[in-house]
Amino acid sequence: MARVRHDDGAGRSKAAAAEPSPVRSVVRASEEGAAEEPSLRPRTMDEYIGQTALKRKLRVFVDAAKQRSEPLDHVLLHGPPGLGKTTMAQILANEMGVRIHITSGPAVEHKGVLAGHLTALESGDVLFIDEIHRLPPIVEESLYSAMEDGRIDLPVGEGTRARTMPFALAPFTLVGATTRTALLGAPLRERFQIVEGLEYYADSELAAIVQRTARILGFSATDAGAAEIGRRSRGTPRIANRLTRRVRDFTQVRGRDAIDRADAEYGLGELGIDPEGLDAIDRRVLVAIVDLFDGGPVGIDALAATLSEPRDTLEDVYEPFLLQRGFLVRTPRGRQVTRKALAHLGREVPPGGGQGELPL
Ligand code: ADE
Repeated sequence: MARVRHDDGAGRSKAAAAEPSPVRSVVRASEEGAAEEPSLRPRTMDEYIGQTALKRKLRVFVDAAKQRSEPLDHVLLHGPPGLGKTTMAQILANEMGVRIHITSGPAVEHKGVLAGHLTALESGDVLFIDEIHRLPPIVEESLYSAMEDGRIDLPVGEGTRARTMPFALAPFTLVGATTRTALLGAPLRERFQIVEGLEYYADSELAAIVQRTARILGFSATDAGAAEIGRRSRGTPRIANRLTRRVRDFTQVRGRDAIDRADAEYGLGELGIDPEGLDAIDRRVLVAIVDLFDGGPVGIDALAATLSEPRDTLEDVYEPFLLQRGFLVRTPRGRQVTRKALAHLGREVPPGGGQGELPL
């Protein structure tokens, strides 16, 4: 079983080798992912539902590295938030039988913090850097020699005698996670030998995750109840887990011990999740484009300013889902709503499609 060291965000690391469950010790209170009860995280490839093609490849890379008694090559995982990048990093460490040290780009504020993490690694360990695109540039540069040559230059001496000394690191695996590979400069991206994306989950996979989560929470869901929650989870396990917990609350308080379709519909309705899985912010995005920008096209910055939402959140969280479900399209001149969006909002499709070319 992988052991975990966890950076608390202040650059300190907590050893957790003695914990019976390594996953339990990686929760970060400051992050949304921490809201997911740690024991909900699958610990092995077999327990992990979905991402079938990715799992098949990673299994081969893990088996091959183990056969050669080598560390796994450096891995970059990319994809929207909540799809399981951190979970997959933990599984990789677990399946390799090594420890994982967890930190994030913003937490590695300077070279000294990075050096602290790297020099604490034992042979074969995984260093997981979430949001790796947010590493300060100078820290990113010192990562290059660590990844390529297994070396980091440490400062020694003071004043006029100050210089750097190369320090040999134990062979290790860097697992980086980012929402979009485009956010990463080529020099860093090219130093990863394995670059893989996580895809939105199919509704049936989310239904299976809901069943599993309900079971772990000591509750249950009928097939139809789980399917309803899965269908409205925007392709994202983190959301499926959050909705499962909340729907369980509604169901339990109504004196019932299993979530059926009616319970799911009731609970999700109370939570403001509509039948297409859109939440209040999704609808606000679409309504703003329709009402304030005549359906688009509108540039992302204008939209972000209008909605008072950070541009990154719109681009990473809301837009990919709305694009994937066909509510929004990207044109060279900006974002535009589709007929499907208008129909969903109960708005008239203008004669000739508004701008004359409203996408279907
Ligand atoms: N919980 C969150 N993501 C999961 C996944 N992919 N499989 C099983 N349980 C999960």
